[in-house]
Amino acid sequence: MNLPQHVRLVEVGPRDGLQNEQQPIGVADKVRLVDDLSAAGLTYIEVGSFVSPKWVPQMAGSREVFAGILQRPGVTYAALTPNMKGFEAALAAGVKEVAVFAAASEAFSQKNINCSIGDSLERFLPLMEAAQQQGIRVRGYVSCVLGCPYEGQIAPEQVARVARELFAMGCYEVSLGDTIGAGTAGATRRLIEVVGREVPRDKLAGHFHDTYGQALANIYASLLEGVAVFDSSVAGLGGCPYAKGASGNVASEDVLYLLNGLGIETGIDLDQLIQAGARICTLLGKENGSRVARARLAQA
Ligand code: HMG
Ligand code: MG
Repeated sequence: MNLPQHVRLVEVGPRDGLQNEQQPIGVADKVRLVDDLSAAGLTYIEVGSFVSPKWVPQMAGSREVFAGILQRPGVTYAALTPNMKGFEAALAAGVKEVAVFAAASEAFSQKNINCSIGDSLERFLPLMEAAQQQGIRVRGYVSCVLGCPYEGQIAPEQVARVARELFAMGCYEVSLGDTIGAGTAGATRRLIEVVGREVPRDKLAGHFHDTYGQALANIYASLLEGVAVFDSSVAGLGGCPYAKGASGNVASEDVLYLLNGLGIETGIDLDQLIQAGARICTLLGKENGSRVARARLAQA
């Protein structure tokens, strides 16, 4: 088996997780979550997003959250920015790394960011230029890579086209989002094979929502294909406001347990991560979405 020796986990709980919560969550609680996650050893945390507060009200306080968090050395604190307005707001908040997000499905692109795929890519160009001038790294997302809530099946070649565009315009890494969590290990391997012809595999990341319970299998399939960066959400928080019924990202604790079992290094402490997840679940009054955390907490 030729598996990567080291994997980077991109923690998206504070953004992809919390963006979907209806109940108000205070800035201090968001700050505490981010600080708990960095204390557990995560080196990449997506803290929030600079999007329209009318579209995603929960992310409205992202500036305050950035101002409140501990900036631990060696940790990247990133934000989603869909356009120049969001990028400028992120810059003003002192953000050092941002992500742009496109979709492989026209219908999803319209629902999520109110424009076509082509228009979204054009909108990113001035942002990429400004980011380069400011020395800000930009990550790219492609949503609906293994299916769309509105269009159904999506051809891997379509995903590859969008991923190639993002990479060509300067995104240093492209995260492939299974937004509706319906992908399977076979489809994932095929996807990476096709997208990998356009973007080097070491520049790809996997972003699996766990709606159908396939995310860990899809991560294992991706590891076998040479992908070594995965997005995950502590306690499996989240969903997507524009993909009804989609559950959260795969739980970070569960991914870490898988990686630990494979002897793959991450630098993350499982017990501390479980505590971080338990804390936010108690605060939100939610059942913990991590099977590993549930098992460990039941033993405690
Ligand atoms: P729009 O309405 O087409 O934008 O929305 P607009 O440029 O026409 O502006 C309309 C209003 O929004 C104006 O305000 C702008 O100032 C304001 P008004 O004059 O009406 O008062 N506006 C903004 N405000 C704050 N921040 C901004 C911003 N831009 C414009 N950046 C827009 C277009 C992209 C803004 C909107 O559709 C939006 O904010 N969408 C949010 C989408 C989102 O956050 N989705 C969830 C994240 S993506 C995701 O979860 C998938 C992912 O996890 C991967 C996966 O799972 O697949 C990444
Ligand atoms: Mg997502």
